Amino acid sequence: MNSDRSSLAEKQEIIAIEAARGHHGPHQPPSIPTYLQDTYWWAYLHEKSFWFFEREWVVNLILWGNMRRLTEGVLADTQLSPRSRALQVACVYGKFTGLLADRLNQSGSKLDLVDVASIQLENARRKLARHRNISFRHQDSSSLAYPDATFDQTVVFFLLHEQPENVRRQTISEALRVTRPGGKIIFVDYHKPSAWHPLRLVMKPILHWLEPFAMDLWNTPLAAYLPTDIPCKEVSLDYTFGGLYQKLVLVRQP
Ligand SMILES: C[S@@+](CC[C@H](N)C(=O)[O-])C[C@H]1O[C@@H](n2cnc3c(N)ncnc32)[C@H](O)[C@@H]1O
Repeated sequence: MNSDRSSLAEKQEIIAIEAARGHHGPHQPPSIPTYLQDTYWWAYLHEKSFWFFEREWVVNLILWGNMRRLTEGVLADTQLSPRSRALQVACVYGKFTGLLADRLNQSGSKLDLVDVASIQLENARRKLARHRNISFRHQDSSSLAYPDATFDQTVVFFLLHEQPENVRRQTISEALRVTRPGGKIIFVDYHKPSAWHPLRLVMKPILHWLEPFAMDLWNTPLAAYLPTDIPCKEVSLDYTFGGLYQKLVLVRQP
């Protein structure tokens, strides 16, 4: 009943935002992208995946004990303007979204959480039910239904390494487009660790095997994927854990 009600509210808002973008007619929910189905079905689309991955210690293990540090890095960069709107592009296992929503709630701000997989959104709705400032939206990161400049800040946490280059470029471009001029866009993702990193030899075959697009982020700086038609300025670029992870913070320019 609850989920019926929220999906009706979701459809109504999508119709409104699509109308604002000049699209008329019924909203088409996005379909599952091929890369997600083929490469990540076991992690995000299978009903048993939640049983395994939806635990903070598992997420923390996958990130070699860095989940808290990476989460705190994002929270520290979050702007707390009164009653602002933030967007998180794609669900994340563990406590990340709840902590972000709590932080935003301190200033009466709201969070939209977008994902292309309805099974992920259902899980997030259950997990985050107590957070009244989160709205759940069924959308594709490479083609968001929001009008330009809808959000004061946007967070993309470990999504880009899972996407093929053309989708990654579109995701970054959409994240910038829906953020208002002066607003922040925060990307956290993999990066090539330094030459002496003890896990370099371990991570390379793991990523090759399980996350085939991730090596792009070892070989290419994130800035190389930025669109040329949406001006933005780099605020900071930080590396964590010997360079295995990066956080790029941009501010959209007028
Ligand atoms: C953010 S990423 C990985 C996060 C991290 N590895 C974790 O701990 O969950 C995983 C999410 O991205 C979503 N996703 C993948 N491609 C997407 C797209 N094109 N649009 C929106 N969500 C997408 C998946 O459905 C999944 O819920």
